[in-house]
Amino acid sequence: MAEGWVLGIESTAHTFSFGLVDSNGIPRPSVSKIIRPTTGGIHPREAADHHVVESTEIFSKILADNDLLPSDISVVAYSQGPGMGACLRTGAAAARAISSHLNVPLIGVNHCVAHIEIGRQQCGCEDPILLYVSGGNTQVIARLDGRYRVLGETLDIGIGNMLDKFARQHGIPFPGGPVIEQRALEWIGKNPEATLEGLELPYAVHGMDLAFSGIMSAANKLVSDGMPFEAVCWSLQEHAFAACVEVAERALAHTGKKEIVLGGGVACNERMRQMSSIMCEERGAESYCPPKMYCIDNGTMIARLGWLEMNHGRVTSLIQSGINQELRTDQTSITWP
Ligand code: ATP
Ligand code: FE2
Repeated sequence: MAEGWVLGIESTAHTFSFGLVDSNGIPRPSVSKIIRPTTGGIHPREAADHHVVESTEIFSKILADNDLLPSDISVVAYSQGPGMGACLRTGAAAARAISSHLNVPLIGVNHCVAHIEIGRQQCGCEDPILLYVSGGNTQVIARLDGRYRVLGETLDIGIGNMLDKFARQHGIPFPGGPVIEQRALEWIGKNPEATLEGLELPYAVHGMDLAFSGIMSAANKLVSDGMPFEAVCWSLQEHAFAACVEVAERALAHTGKKEIVLGGGVACNERMRQMSSIMCEERGAESYCPPKMYCIDNGTMIARLGWLEMNHGRVTSLIQSGINQELRTDQTSITWP
């Protein structure tokens, strides 16, 4: 069992975040800074520069918030991948510096697996299907033979990137997902009897996989053809979320599992949560939604996975501590129950 606190450092993309778990693996809320470009998307180098500038303040604040001294930290975990190279390197460099300075072990962890493990810890579910819906990733995942296997995933862009891009084309800066949720709510609030007639979008399900760029182009066309923007936001959510939930339902059917846990930033969306709950209720399964602060990227989930790995005997030597932009969910072996 790890003694003392595990520090987790998240830096895969726009978010630089430090979080903690105690020696029993119990999480503490993260301290995070998110780069929000006023125009365009996330530029990896600009995001990395942002993370460097913010690092000292974030580190001081997470210690102060928890009444800790640096010497209370006994392990440093960080996101080793997948993600943007420049951002990952910043987090890894901070982790190496802190671990060398404190002379404590370093653990590089898989960001996608961290989303799953914080969800399991928060929701108390045993063996769920993970519906992982973030900016960069959209995957349906199940544990099998010591790995989290990807049963289905996006063939083009992540669902969150699709929402952000659609929003950006209509003048809404990053992150667009929450604004689309608000606009959709406004539409359905004013039109409780609304139907999808005239607002149809392409079907995003391809076997067990998904694709979102066609939906996004079609949604843009609806707006340029004169459909109200709020109505299109609503339709976009209905189509894209139903597609994800449909693949998750098939995953339940194929594997015989009985639980779904949501993860990733898009899992903050109330309509996504509701659709997953309705599907599970209809088939006698359980849908779990972690608190929103643990759906978005956060350092605490990295600390939690670091704690699990540490307690199962894994550490990362300095020589192995390079980042891996392309790290896949199923490349990490799962040695804990
Ligand atoms: P990953 O590296 O796992 O792909 P990420 O870098 O995309 O993660 P997250 O914090 O998991 O980071 O997710 C951010 C995404 O979540 C953005 O695309 C954002 O628009 C979306 N998002 C956040 N809140 C909501 C919401 N309420 N409704 C829809 N989308 C949301
Ligand atoms: Fe993430």
